[in-house]
Amino acid sequence: MNEFRRAALFLASAASVVLAAPALAAQPLTLTPAPVKAQALDGSFRLSDATRIHVAKGDVEARSVAQQLSDLLHRARGVRPAVVEGEPAAGEAAISLVRGGPDGEGYGLDVAPGGVKITAQKRAGLFYGAISLWQLAVQDEAKGPVDVPAAQVEDAPRFAWRGFMLDSARHYQSIDTIKLLIDGMAAHKLNTLHWHLVDDQAWRLEIKKYPKLTQVSAWRTPAGAAARDLKTGKPVRYGGFYSQDQVRDLVAYAAARNVTIVPEIEMPGHALAPIVAYPKLGLTPNPPALARHDWGIFPYLYNVDDETFGFLNDVLDEVMDLFPSEYIHVGGDEAVKDQWKESAAIQAKIKALGVKDEHGLQSWFIQRVEKHINGRGRRLIGWDEILEGGLAPNATVMSWRGIEGAIAAAGQGHDTVLSPEPTLYFDRRQSTSLDEPPGRMTVSSLKDVYNFDAAPDALTADQRKHILGVQANLWVEHIRTDERVQLMAFPRLVALSETAWTQEERRDWNGFAARVPSQMARLKVLGIKANTAPFEPQASLRPGQDGAIAASLKSGLELGQIRYTTDGSEPTTASPAYGEALSLKAGTVLKARSFLDGQPLGRTRAWTATEWAAHTRVSRQLELCGNAIPLLFEDDAPENGRDGERAIFATDVMKPCWVWKGADLSKGLKLTAWVGQTPWNFQIGKAKDQIVVRKPATPDGELEVRVGGCEGERIAAIPLGKAGRGPGLGTVGGVLPARDGVHDLCFSFTAKGLDPMPALDRVTLTSAGQ
Ligand code: ACM
Repeated sequence: MNEFRRAALFLASAASVVLAAPALAAQPLTLTPAPVKAQALDGSFRLSDATRIHVAKGDVEARSVAQQLSDLLHRARGVRPAVVEGEPAAGEAAISLVRGGPDGEGYGLDVAPGGVKITAQKRAGLFYGAISLWQLAVQDEAKGPVDVPAAQVEDAPRFAWRGFMLDSARHYQSIDTIKLLIDGMAAHKLNTLHWHLVDDQAWRLEIKKYPKLTQVSAWRTPAGAAARDLKTGKPVRYGGFYSQDQVRDLVAYAAARNVTIVPEIEMPGHALAPIVAYPKLGLTPNPPALARHDWGIFPYLYNVDDETFGFLNDVLDEVMDLFPSEYIHVGGDEAVKDQWKESAAIQAKIKALGVKDEHGLQSWFIQRVEKHINGRGRRLIGWDEILEGGLAPNATVMSWRGIEGAIAAAGQGHDTVLSPEPTLYFDRRQSTSLDEPPGRMTVSSLKDVYNFDAAPDALTADQRKHILGVQANLWVEHIRTDERVQLMAFPRLVALSETAWTQEERRDWNGFAARVPSQMARLKVLGIKANTAPFEPQASLRPGQDGAIAASLKSGLELGQIRYTTDGSEPTTASPAYGEALSLKAGTVLKARSFLDGQPLGRTRAWTATEWAAHTRVSRQLELCGNAIPLLFEDDAPENGRDGERAIFATDVMKPCWVWKGADLSKGLKLTAWVGQTPWNFQIGKAKDQIVVRKPATPDGELEVRVGGCEGERIAAIPLGKAGRGPGLGTVGGVLPARDGVHDLCFSFTAKGLDPMPALDRVTLTSAGQ
């Protein structure tokens, strides 16, 4: 070592010593997912720009992990430790990445005032040790040097597959957003991104040999009013695809963060997009000219000609060249067999092969593809329908229709991943808050995800050994924007990480919940938009006594304490704690925020307690008439919605009516309703015929109001007129006649058909004299 370098090291170590913090008493660690063993110790390690991260000379992997750690610390706190090769100098308080100790993804982490040591045999372990250190350094949104609490951690994952599935077919996300999702996964030790690249609605992956897959089928026309630019009247083209260069870059980005991307190429169903591009792959002479904007299950299947398998093999070869993952996902779900049943050629093939039926043919199809995948040293994984007709010899099953698929697969000695509806389907909303983005209405909360049982009693101990892990799936039919994708994924993926990583006996919702403020802070400093709505108070404003407004407050997850003000000031930990419903003078501004252990959870929410608000209910505050396909979905019109945004409707698609419970009709009521029209873009097969819509009496249909149930007496039929024509919301008004007592009011629409579907945005009922 030359003299200059020795002097520099001495200065660096001296700086660390001078900056060393006074000893801190041991404090609870906020590591998430919770580690196998973690002991908080007295004292702390001062981490600043002067801190250096040491790796062994020539250890390229350790160096890349150290660089990631430095980058992450810079991103979160603005400090940038230098990465250096070689041992720390005597007395230097430094971070060292050292090979040894735990194998695989396991690691040891020692944080002491005199230095930090991360020990692991493999790169993955070093990376997760670095992530744990980063978490200890980032427990809030503060910037600058930090005293990292002293601790000793020994850790290793419970499951090898800690996954998240992103659907990029129904809507397209930018590469930058996908990188952000990978950042959030890696920061919580999730390691598998299952990328759903192909579906009826789009083909998103560039395949050099078949350019029309993306030239044609990466694009579609949006449904309804959104199909045309409202200003210019010009057709709108929606879509996008990922070039092979982008994919190579993304795969490397993910690998650097210990995330494997498992690509999914759907077959034999969900195949409209490739059939649109190359009709010879399908069974219909005249498939649509463009991929479709409808949601649901289309009937289009691949045929089983040799040329089709040639195509699939070519595609899979390019896929396997791009993605080095051990597993290749081939879909296999929801392939309705009607087209195979109706095709003489397919029926002849079934006979010639001697398989029992169309399920047997699907099994033969998947086995043929598996041979190709196995031939390249990879393994096939598919949705649980690949069990039907017989499982391919080496296949792994992703169980989504509950855990029955997992039980069956494990029972046959096959590996399985648990990603079941409803809990791990992240297209469901996270709470009943009015601020939740669109999605499926059934709630799958942070707590539901946390409490998901990844070792169900239904499996024997031996069968449980076949559970590779768990995965959350984010389908994006109703999740149109990149920001909403992040909101649906986070913070629930943080809860999933603890289910996937932490040993069962160490899991505890209360312990996890106490760490929520630090978890949310980390997501925020990474630049991830996490959904705060379930933590935030929601107000219900109702008419109170003597002209006052009764306000009750509740948060979706009921974590922490709600505090409020009524003088316009920001609520703080010193503001009154909410207990019982408040009686507010009309015009009062109510502000409320949740706090947990003195730290705010989510944003401050504010409401003005007006008469109008007390007499208004939005569609998600009304009772839906059914629960068959309950959705929160957006208006199709990009403009002219309430507040300039698209309205969001709560509807059961199968039974589109809404109930206002307990309306006092004794003096009659004046009704004002906001209504929109949404395109019918659901592929639900014959179930569509069961939807009842009454015929209209006027050209644009009516809003009907009934008492005594939704089939009961009609007390009003208010013509929609212009409000029934869209795009965007329109208002209608009418009077509900007086009658004795309190009644449940059922609102429904008459219409000429289902397309467009009228939808109720909100209703206001005021006294008839107003
Ligand atoms: C699926 O949700 N169709 C796998």
